[in-house]
Amino acid sequence: MLNIETNYLGINLKSPIIVASSGLSNSIEKIKEFEKNGAGAIVLKSIFEEQILAESAHNISQDQSYGYDVHDYISATIRDTRLGDYLSHLKEAKAAVNIPIIASINCISDHEWLDFTHKIEEAGADAIELNIGLLPSNHEISSEENEQKYFSIVEKVKRNTNLPIALKMSQYSAGLANLIKKLSWTGHVDAFVLFNRYFNPDIDIEKMEITSTGVFSRAEDISDSLRWVAIMSNVIEVPIAATTGIHTGKDVVKEILAGAQCVQIASTIYEHGSQQIKVMIDEMEDWMQRKSFNFLDDFRGKMAFDSEKSTVAFERIQFMKHFGGIE
Ligand SMILES: Cc1cc2nc3c(=O)[nH]c(=O)nc-3n(C[C@H](O)[C@H](O)[C@H](O)COP(=O)(O)O)c2cc1C
Repeated sequence: MLNIETNYLGINLKSPIIVASSGLSNSIEKIKEFEKNGAGAIVLKSIFEEQILAESAHNISQDQSYGYDVHDYISATIRDTRLGDYLSHLKEAKAAVNIPIIASINCISDHEWLDFTHKIEEAGADAIELNIGLLPSNHEISSEENEQKYFSIVEKVKRNTNLPIALKMSQYSAGLANLIKKLSWTGHVDAFVLFNRYFNPDIDIEKMEITSTGVFSRAEDISDSLRWVAIMSNVIEVPIAATTGIHTGKDVVKEILAGAQCVQIASTIYEHGSQQIKVMIDEMEDWMQRKSFNFLDDFRGKMAFDSEKSTVAFERIQFMKHFGGIE
């Protein structure tokens, strides 16, 4: 009898496939469909402090005739309304399904990381995902200063909540393995989500405008998370959720072989609908049956990086002749 349950953030999930944070979870009907098709948990779309501030600034710029008091009032009202809407949706989602609902936040000010978390905990979320995007683009800021941001946010948030915390991070760091290891030692991170997918710029050379490459990931995008899950899963004790480029049941198997505790998917659901979760589970179970594995733990980490084994390939980056095979 196959059992694909897994433990994530101290919660028992009935399957290792989590619906990643995105607009997919904006509808309660869809959330119910995800549960029906076998999702282990759902991460709600992030609430972005920056977006709330931008909306306030836009509204204020529409009417300059009022004084600062009124501007403060407008900002506070917009902020409370957006946060209130998020919390209502979270409560509705919790009431609609039995699987865990994980809230996701992205803030820029210290007090909002704390206040958003506090309100989300009160509203009944099962866990919180901190969506911390880090693009080291400011040439005045050193890598250490940049990375300090992760330590400072997880420390503050963890001190102020009893919720389990997942840290969804970017792959931008010159010392990524060391950074993840040190973050795992803080005791403030209950899971890592590797890695977020961002807006990727392109240029339209006819219009000479900035455009974006596709919003959705492609199958080959899996290699970044696969590489880093494999490299880190034996090094840290904190579980890892893999995300980006996981489109099939075979991809879930690959990530678990690399050592992931579970996966988070978005693009493939956008492209194929919520039933894709079931298709992926069936494909994964079919593989488990063929290989005589009854539990995910039976094969988890079997292909994780080990300097003594063939899995050293996860550390290769150069297309050397014998490796690339292309003349
Ligand atoms: C349309 C769309 C919206 C997204 N919104 C968010 C978001 O609000 N917060 C977040 O942390 N990630 C967001 N993501 C990233 C996904 O959660 C996920 O990590 C990423 O898409 C990689 O998974 P995939 O390859 O299965 O799409 C979004 C992705 C898509 C495609």
